Formats: sequence, structure tokens, C-alpha cells
Amino acid sequence: MKGRALITGGAGFLGSHLCDALLGEGYSVVVVDNLLTGRLSNLEHLRNEPRFEFQKLDVNQPFDCGPVDYIFHFACPASPVDYTEHGIATLKVGSVGTFHVLDVARKYQAKYLVSSTSECYGDPLEHPQKESYWGYVNPVGPRSVYDEAKRFTEAVTMAYHRYHNVDARIVRIFNTYGPRMQINDGRVVPNFMKQALRGEPLTVYGDGGQTRSFCYVSDEIEGFLRLSRSDEHLPVNIGNPNEFTILECAQRVIAITGSKSRIDFKPLPPDDPKLRRPDITKAREVLGWEPKVDLDTGLRLSLDYFRGAVIAEPVL
Ligand SMILES: NC(=O)c1ccc[n+]([C@@H]2O[C@H](COP(=O)([O-])OP(=O)(O)OC[C@H]3O[C@@H](n4cnc5c(N)ncnc54)[C@H](O)[C@@H]3O)[C@@H](O)[C@H]2O)c1
Repeated sequence: MKGRALITGGAGFLGSHLCDALLGEGYSVVVVDNLLTGRLSNLEHLRNEPRFEFQKLDVNQPFDCGPVDYIFHFACPASPVDYTEHGIATLKVGSVGTFHVLDVARKYQAKYLVSSTSECYGDPLEHPQKESYWGYVNPVGPRSVYDEAKRFTEAVTMAYHRYHNVDARIVRIFNTYGPRMQINDGRVVPNFMKQALRGEPLTVYGDGGQTRSFCYVSDEIEGFLRLSRSDEHLPVNIGNPNEFTILECAQRVIAITGSKSRIDFKPLPPDDPKLRRPDITKAREVLGWEPKVDLDTGLRLSLDYFRGAVIAEPVL
């Protein structure tokens, strides 16, 4: 056995894929999750796996899940729908919850990796975004519950690294998509997939000229694993640098699903970032990582999952 890994937020989209990857590499895994936005169905296939354990816990309360060698701190509402609904819980998990997880890392001298986000760059004035860019964030806008929580998460992580020698790493994740995303979480790919598969119009905000870069989940997870094995303590961007306008993405989804849906344009929400693309020079140089799955392939790989999720979801 390679050691015991704790994944906070392991019942969520990324955390559950990380469980599969770590179990596949021979680790034993304990998931700590309060199921605020995650689902046990994401872990159902691990029910009979002897190296897997689930503990329903809120990391905003002090906790101790026993000795661990590695910690992947992924607990945090992540989609705009979720963090808007759970704004205070988002600020708490980014702050007090992160202190608790870092205290576990300190107690057991575990290697620690935390999921941060491209939202730390806000509505960026630099494009593409390098890790050295400090960001342009509205501290009191509707998105600030998430953006500032994550910026604080990074600050407290670096403080535990500097003051308590916690062996810490910070990944700045850019839009990631794939199976197990919630179809109602408001993120671009699930939204478009759901609308296209139901034959409803695809909602594009603004003129659809704002850009995003989408990373398929298997590429993202490989980036996390490489970073966890590296000695890099400052943040590293992990994301796909291929940039698409939202309108292009809607057209791709329509093509891949074979849908007859049209596109509906709606007003742009406040503080919506206009440009978003990672500069992944650091990940390439330090981790030897770069994404392999292009958008069309990733959408095709996700199609069966979204079909099933749309069928399972009652139309209101
Ligand atoms: N998916 C992306 O594109 C993306 C982009 C940037 C950053 N991230 C970060 O990656 C992490 C995982 O995101 P995701 O997309 O898997 O989201 P998700 O909502 O699917 O997963 C988050 C998990 O954290 C759990 N959780 C929330 N608060 C908790 C608490 N107080 N105690 C215990 N568990 C708690 C939820 O129940 C859920 O299972 C988050 O930290 C998110 O900010 C994700």
C-alpha cells in the first residue's frame, strides 16, 4: 500500500475522479464530505472497495479522520449557482475550514494540495493569466464570496507552509468539465449539454464573445497528481489553454449532440470575466504537464453521462 490519502470534498465532481485515480495508483483513500453540493452516487462504484472509506463531516468544524500521508483539500462549493446559494458556507470553507484541514496536515505531517481557482484572477487585465498576476477582483461583488474565499485559502496555505513547514501545494484550476458534473450547476458545459439534449434553446449571455478555456477532467486530474509529487509550493495553473468563445462552445455542443436547438442571447451577469485562458508555461516546465484531450473529444467522452443525467432529471 502506498499510503493513506484524505480527500476533502471527495463526493464532488473533481474529488470523486481524484478518488478513482489515487485508488488506481494503490493508495487507500478517506473522503470527508458534508454532501453540501456533492453526491454519494459519485462514489457508489467504490462501495465495496476495501481501501476506500467515506466520513460524512463538515470541515468547518475541527475534525480528525486519523493519520494520513497526503491531503487533497477540494471541499468548497464551486459552481456559480452553488456558491451564490451557499455564500457564507463558501467563505467559511475557504477560511475556517481550510485552517482545520491544514491543522490535520500539520498534525500528521501530511503532504497537502489545495484546489484554488482561476477566479483568483477575477476579471483579468492580463491575458493569458500567469501565476505571477495578482488579479483584478471586486471584493464586494456577488462573486466575491467565492473569489475572495479562494484568495484567502491561498494566503492561509502559504502561511502554514512558511510558519509551520506544512508541505503545501496550490493548484489554480481553470474551467474543467466531464462526467459527474451536476447538470443544474449553471456551468457552461452542463448547461449547454442539458439544453441541447432536451432540444431547448442554448442560453448565451452577452454576445457570446467572452472566452473560456475548457479542460477535460482526466487531464486536470493528471495535473493534480504531478503537482502533488513536485516540490513546487507556489500556485500552478492547471487548465487547457485552447480558448473558445462561449458562442463557439454552444455551436460545438449542438454539433456533437446532433441537436436542433437554437441559441438564445441574454444579458451578461455582473462581473462576468470577459477573457479567461491559463498560461501553462509553469506547469509545462515544472511538471512536464500539458492537456491532451481537445474540446470535441472531451464533449464526446462526456455525452453518455449527460444523456443519462438528463433522462434522470425531471423536467419542471
Ligand atoms: N470544476 C471546476 O472547473 C473548478 C474550477 C476551479 C476550481 N475548482 C475547485 O475544485 C474543488 C472541487 O470542485 P468541484 O467542481 O468538484 O465542485 P463540487 O461542488 O462538485 O465538489 C465540492 C465538494 O465539497 C463538498 N463540501 C463543500 N463544503 C464542505 C464542507 N464544509 N465540508 C465538507 N465538504 C464540503 C461538497 O459537498 C462537494 O462534494 C473546489 O474547491 C473548487 O473551488 C473547480
